[in-house]
Amino acid sequence: MKIIEIEGGKKLTGTIRISGAKNATVALIPAAILTDEEATICNVPEITDTEALCDILELLKVKVNRSTESVVINPSEMENVEITEPYSKKLRASYYFMGALLGKYKKAVMYFPGGCSIGERPIDLHLKGFEALGAKVTTEKNKYTVEAEELKGANIYLDIASVGATINIMLAAVKAKGITVIDNAAKEPEIVNVATFLNNMGAKITGAGTSTIKIEGVEKLHKCFHEVIPDRIEAGTYIIIGALCGEMLKIDNVIPEHIDPLLSKLEEIGVNFEVGRDHITVLESGNDLKSTTVKTAVFPGFPTDLQQPFTVLLTQANGMSRVIETIWENRFMHIPYLNQLGSRIVVKNQTAEIVGPTKLTATSVAATDLRAGAAMVAAALIAEGKTKIANAEHILRGYEQIVEKLVSVGARIELKEI
Ligand code: EPZ
Repeated sequence: MKIIEIEGGKKLTGTIRISGAKNATVALIPAAILTDEEATICNVPEITDTEALCDILELLKVKVNRSTESVVINPSEMENVEITEPYSKKLRASYYFMGALLGKYKKAVMYFPGGCSIGERPIDLHLKGFEALGAKVTTEKNKYTVEAEELKGANIYLDIASVGATINIMLAAVKAKGITVIDNAAKEPEIVNVATFLNNMGAKITGAGTSTIKIEGVEKLHKCFHEVIPDRIEAGTYIIIGALCGEMLKIDNVIPEHIDPLLSKLEEIGVNFEVGRDHITVLESGNDLKSTTVKTAVFPGFPTDLQQPFTVLLTQANGMSRVIETIWENRFMHIPYLNQLGSRIVVKNQTAEIVGPTKLTATSVAATDLRAGAAMVAAALIAEGKTKIANAEHILRGYEQIVEKLVSVGARIELKEI
């Protein structure tokens, strides 16, 4: 098991550079198999989710050449074999191979995906989308076979604006015959990044970033070069850390519009920061942060993926704050650990009520999922004494070089294997 140890109380100064977006990368890598030619994707974060997807590519006999920050994917000799359970289960985003393989070969065989335990996480909307395109879905325990004689464009209305279903349907539809329209599509920046990549390969997708996406099927996709957008959740996490213990902490390589909902909340509660063209500088904030209410929502609402780190900041605000989680049923697993560190938080149904400010004191905690782990790191950085965070593997799934980045701005943090 990996453990992160943090000696809290240090002020952080300097620059942290944001890596490529995890949630775009994890769709771009499977999307690359839709061509028979070479795709080069740069600004790819070195996180364990990327490694797990490259392992699946190798299982499918796709040539993968990984260098610092880029990956070259060549599927010219690939084989459409079953993605066995251990590979499917390594991460949630393995499900993008379902859409991509269906689009390319009209057949995909894989198992229910893994990923963070933050709720039930069904994939019914993905499957309904594939069926609307003409595929037959057979489920045997947790094994899925999705097969079609021919994929035909269709009008698909998503009951929920799901990120995964929107991308997966796009992947299957790019090579379908005719036009597919996805209504109530998710609008997250990662979806726009994936649509841009597919269009660079010759797909005809319009409307990505709005709630109606139109995909005109094409016969063939070709080689391309693509850059992953900066990770807005990683950026938001470090900005929150800056608000907690920064002293001129510059977060570089950021698209500020992607984190507007966070920035407006920070302004409301009194965090001191400056917005540049591609960076945010967090100045030292006083002790007079105000409490607030925040409700997670689909983009451009407040991202659920920042809710857990933001809760830590609210432990330092004066008065009662509320965090209302609307996307996932089980995203408050960080709260018992925060309370062990000294916070006063009560969870009632899907709302966390936080009374602040509270002094945090180091103890042993655990990362129950990726963003809960990020919340533990943020809390440990301001806690008095040495905090040990168990199950740090969860954190490494989504934050490239988190230890090195924090050390470079003055944190006392170490990664250990026990
Ligand atoms: C993506 O998950 C992200 N993961 C999540 O980030 C993120 O929290 C989430 O979008 C919301 O922004 C990846 O991109 C790999 P959804 P996804 O489909 O696509 C329900 C992180 O920490 N739903 O938009 O799985 C679902 O249960 C991770 O980086 C169905 O009911 O999320 C949820 O309540 C965690 N049926 C809601 O929709 C479906 O078929 C939104 O889920 C699909 C989803």
